[in-house]
Amino acid sequence: MNIFKRSVFRIYQKILHLSMYFLPFKEPLLFEGETSVEEMCKHLRIKNINKLFIVTDENIIGFDFFKETLNILQENKISVEIFSDVKPNPSIQLIEVAYQKYKEDKYDGLFAIGGGSAIDLAKGIGIRFTHPNKTLQSRKGILKVLKKQPLLIAMPTTAGTGSEATVACVVTDEETNEKYAINDPVLIPKIACLNPKTCLELPQTITATTGIDALTHAVEAYIGGSNTKKTKRMAKEAIQGINDNLLDSYHNGNDLQVRMNMLKASYQAGVAFTRAYVGNIHALAHQLGGMYHVPHGLANAVLMPYVLKYYQEKAYKKLSELYLVIDNKANPKEEKENSIQFISWIRLMNKEMNIPEKFDLDVSEESLLKMSQRAYKEANPLYPVPMIFEVNDFLKIYKQAIQKAN
Ligand SMILES: [Fe+2]
Repeated sequence: MNIFKRSVFRIYQKILHLSMYFLPFKEPLLFEGETSVEEMCKHLRIKNINKLFIVTDENIIGFDFFKETLNILQENKISVEIFSDVKPNPSIQLIEVAYQKYKEDKYDGLFAIGGGSAIDLAKGIGIRFTHPNKTLQSRKGILKVLKKQPLLIAMPTTAGTGSEATVACVVTDEETNEKYAINDPVLIPKIACLNPKTCLELPQTITATTGIDALTHAVEAYIGGSNTKKTKRMAKEAIQGINDNLLDSYHNGNDLQVRMNMLKASYQAGVAFTRAYVGNIHALAHQLGGMYHVPHGLANAVLMPYVLKYYQEKAYKKLSELYLVIDNKANPKEEKENSIQFISWIRLMNKEMNIPEKFDLDVSEESLLKMSQRAYKEANPLYPVPMIFEVNDFLKIYKQAIQKAN
């Protein structure tokens, strides 16, 4: 990349980083633990919240925790309408359907119960509700929502996307197969309810891939150039939590404490990346999600080792610092060795959780180029990554990570 272009991108990122200090990054009001729904409902009663629009998917409505949540809402005289058609990678077309239902009646807020898809879909409803004459496509990018949103409560059922803590609403356009984010601090949910019972029935593969998604958030936030003291601390705590709990939650999913710890780690990673951004791993992953419906967590899990290795000396220092979080006996001066060990740690976790090293996809040269161009557009100039990628860098990584990249 020529020096002029790189300098322009870096200046853009610097200005954005500084301007973030003036934006209202308000963390959600947090309710945690097995009794979090009861405590939250007490709070809602005090705030005179009487009617909520629940956004979820058809699997979740069959789970015990969902029925229990409905009972607690009913005991607190909070009535609900349930929209249970959420699908993975929520489309702007589906958000439109949900929004039309939401505006038929008067609600005190939205209650998203699910993974990132449900929470993002609920955010999308809020955006449409406050911009009835604007399309979601027109809000793509940063700071294009701006208006105060309806009350949004998020109860994540995976640990996870961190969407309960973030400014991002990630949507897919079914017509163009393009996946992109709408980012605005007004999209941070007002309330997050971290209830470990929600994760008890998660299949192992979802526990694995969503857990690595949380790890990717923490890693990309930390190695990027837009950190604050708080985002660094949050990212490190998230990595510590993931190191201590992810494999346990994969092998022993019925352990409520381990599930709670992973929800907390995912939340902390969310707080970190919503301020410090993600990076090239996410830019690459989003295109695989948009064009080939690769689940987001799986995409990140496969891609992360390739991208971190590709950064080489540009990321040694930061990756070494992260390695010290999980191995306090490592020598801080051995930055290169520590960063190699950190990447190995990710590979080993992937392996233990049966995450493949490559995508089993057959992708034409033309599609690879299209994804690379889209990844370039997503990442630049926005993401404060350790190394700014050209289209060709994205292309190389896709070729390394895809089994049949023709
Ligand atoms: Fe993510």
